[in-house]
This record gives sequence, C-alpha cells and structure tokens, in this order.
Amino acid sequence: MIFETHAHYDDEQFTPDRGALLAALPEKGIGKIINVGASVATTRMTLALAEQYRHIYAAVGVHPGEIRDLDEDNFLWLKQQTTQGKVVAIGEIGLDYYWEKDPVVQETQRHWFRRQMALAKDADLPVIIHSRDAAADTMQIVSEAGNWSPSSDGCGVIHCYSYSAEQALQYIKLGYYIGVGGVVTFKNAKKLKETVQAIPLSRILLETDCPYMAPEPYRGKRNESSYLTYVAEKIAEIKEISPAEVEKATWENAIRLFSRAAS
Ligand code: NI
Repeated sequence: MIFETHAHYDDEQFTPDRGALLAALPEKGIGKIINVGASVATTRMTLALAEQYRHIYAAVGVHPGEIRDLDEDNFLWLKQQTTQGKVVAIGEIGLDYYWEKDPVVQETQRHWFRRQMALAKDADLPVIIHSRDAAADTMQIVSEAGNWSPSSDGCGVIHCYSYSAEQALQYIKLGYYIGVGGVVTFKNAKKLKETVQAIPLSRILLETDCPYMAPEPYRGKRNESSYLTYVAEKIAEIKEISPAEVEKATWENAIRLFSRAAS
C-alpha cells in the first residue's frame, strides 16, 4: 500500500468525479492520503474531506501565496482545528519567492511562516513546508525552530523538494523528511534524482501535489494518487531496489512522521 502525503482533492479540477475517485483509491493501492490545506477555504474543505472519508487525513495551514487570508482571527481558528483527531500536520506553510518578488510581501511570508511553525510546536504536530526560490531564508527559519521533535519521529517534510542534495542532507539532520513526487520521473530532473540517490530511503515520502505535477507518462495531465506507482518505480530504479520496498519504507516513514495517521 502507498501512503500519499500531499494531495489537494479540494481543487475544482476534481469537482466532476471527486467522490468516485476518492472511493476507488484504496482498491488502487492507496491506503492513506493527507489532503493539504493551502488557504482558509481549502483548509475547511480539507477538514470536510477528512471527516467524510476514513482514509483521508488533514493538514491545516496557509500557503505563502495565500497569506492575505491570515489575521489574528483566522490564525486562532487554525489553532482551534489542531485538536481534531484527523488533523495530522500544519501545512502547507513556507516561502515562495518564485511567484512573489515584492520584498515587503516576502517579509510578510516570513512572518506567517514563523508563526505557523510556532503553532505546530505548540500543537505538537509536524509541518509540511512549501519552499520555492527561497532556499536560504527557508533554511534559516527552519534552523531557528531547531530540531524540536514533536511526539512523531521528525519535525516535518520539505514538500516537492527542489534544492540540492547537499541541502537535503542538512534538512534530514534537522529532523526533516524529503517529499518526492512526479518531477522525479521527468527526463530533465537531474538534481532531484541526485538527491534521491544521496539521501536514505528512511527519509523519503511519496507525494503527488495533485492535481499538479503528474508523473510520466501523464505529465501535463491531471494528477491523482494512484499515479504514485510511477514515482515509486523511479525511486526504486535510482536506489536499485524493488518498487515494493519503496512503497513499504515510505509508508512506514509517513506513519512515523504523521503519527496521528497511524490509527
Ligand atoms: Ni501542495
């Protein structure tokens, strides 16, 4: 069975067939799924999906591109959600300087990233971090937070990892896992393949980021969790092991990190 650690089934691309698709995933080998909030509205939808489906868990949080959503009232609301049993992480949170070039807004991103990291610590939950074109500042904020080990084994995951192999090893030292998805199947994904080769299997998590980032042979199409078999196959090829070993190890990794998803 595969543990899918990063999906956005709240996305409108799933509106026509969401129910049928989600109900069929366990038969396709997808045992557990974390649906990840990115704004207040999508966090609400995430919580509703987790309530409706036994195999879906929730991450609550606000993405750097959606921080206009955040004020003290909404932050308090987020905090209140962390006590719900199916909430397994704070995410996705972080920095995105690829889409945001304004230094004032980037400073606001750092503010809410720090606040949501602190929220995770208070709630004893791991974090799901989005970081794009913001390597140095992300590393700084993560380092400031330290290896704070919630009850789970690890502080969080660097989702859709896009930096160097060297930096991935640094994150692992700080108590983080590395999220690997469809990009690893792309021909030009040299850096990510090097990262997968360099890091231990015990620190890799499988994730789609669906509906985005579909692996080959579906690149450019709508992604879904069942396509993670292609990602597992590619990791297996790089690590020279079987896809079954990749699925088993990454399942165990996810249960260790997202300990509330164990039951
Ligand atoms: Ni995402």
